[in-house]
Amino acid sequence: MKHKRPLVVATFAMTVDGKVTTKNLSPVDFTSREDKLHLFRQRALADAVLIGHTSLKRDNVRLGLPTEMQESRVKRGRSRCPLRVIVSNEGRIDHRLNIFQSDVSPIIIFSTKRMPQKYQRALEKKTTLHLSDTKSVNLGGMLQTLRDEYKVRTVACEGGPTLFRALLEQGLIDRLNLTIAPFMFGGAKAPTLTGVSKDFLPASVHCSLSDMRTIGDECFLTYRIKHQRRRRN
Ligand SMILES: NC(=O)c1ccc[n+]([C@@H]2O[C@H](COP(=O)([O-])OP(=O)(O)OC[C@H]3O[C@@H](n4cnc5c(N)ncnc54)[C@H](OP(=O)(O)O)[C@@H]3O)[C@@H](O)[C@H]2O)c1
Repeated sequence: MKHKRPLVVATFAMTVDGKVTTKNLSPVDFTSREDKLHLFRQRALADAVLIGHTSLKRDNVRLGLPTEMQESRVKRGRSRCPLRVIVSNEGRIDHRLNIFQSDVSPIIIFSTKRMPQKYQRALEKKTTLHLSDTKSVNLGGMLQTLRDEYKVRTVACEGGPTLFRALLEQGLIDRLNLTIAPFMFGGAKAPTLTGVSKDFLPASVHCSLSDMRTIGDECFLTYRIKHQRRRRN
């Protein structure tokens, strides 16, 4: 019997010209307080929050929640914060990053046996490591493990674009929350939602708009990703 995978909801902010960051991937703060709350609310709804190694490294996020949201989860019989899940193929993850200094929830790393021993030793003190024999992480398998071993039903994917694109190409994104922020950055090398790759997606992905709100100059969109009706580019 095929097991159900968790629901995967991605949340991103982009500029009016479709950029999610600048070309050198420096942390840029281009959204409002309302958007940051929106990101927290999406995180608070999930059983696990998922992030790619580059975003973790660049933004040095802890992936926790404000105290009120933690308390509200506890009142509803849930853990204080969602599990924190990191994906990396190479596994050279610095154990001194902020996330590892915070114990709000368990941290699970999906990587490969390419992770050097030195990194394994440092990280296994603070996290659970899932290291595959493959060259890269099997994302579908990762979601299945989250469901089967950790009872994860909803995953909040917080990027970045490389990880998002890989999930999207494999039909593993169910919903997209997209904030359009009132800026333009330009720059051919600045990543869009699907990264910097010049390649088309294997097939265009059809989205259905399910919600739209505007607050100030920002627009908050929610799309449902249609899995069945993929169109060719
Ligand atoms: N505006 C927004 O809403 C938003 C949201 C998130 C991030 N960002 C920005 O996006 C930038 C980073 O994006 P990015 O696309 O360069 O990086 P990313 O997607 O965060 O991370 C890429 C890294 O994650 C790992 N990874 C990605 N796909 C994988 C897969 N299929 N299997 C296993 N591991 C995988 C690899 O790690 P290893 O290299 O360790 O193998 C890869 O190099 C940052 O500047 C960040 O601020 C913006």
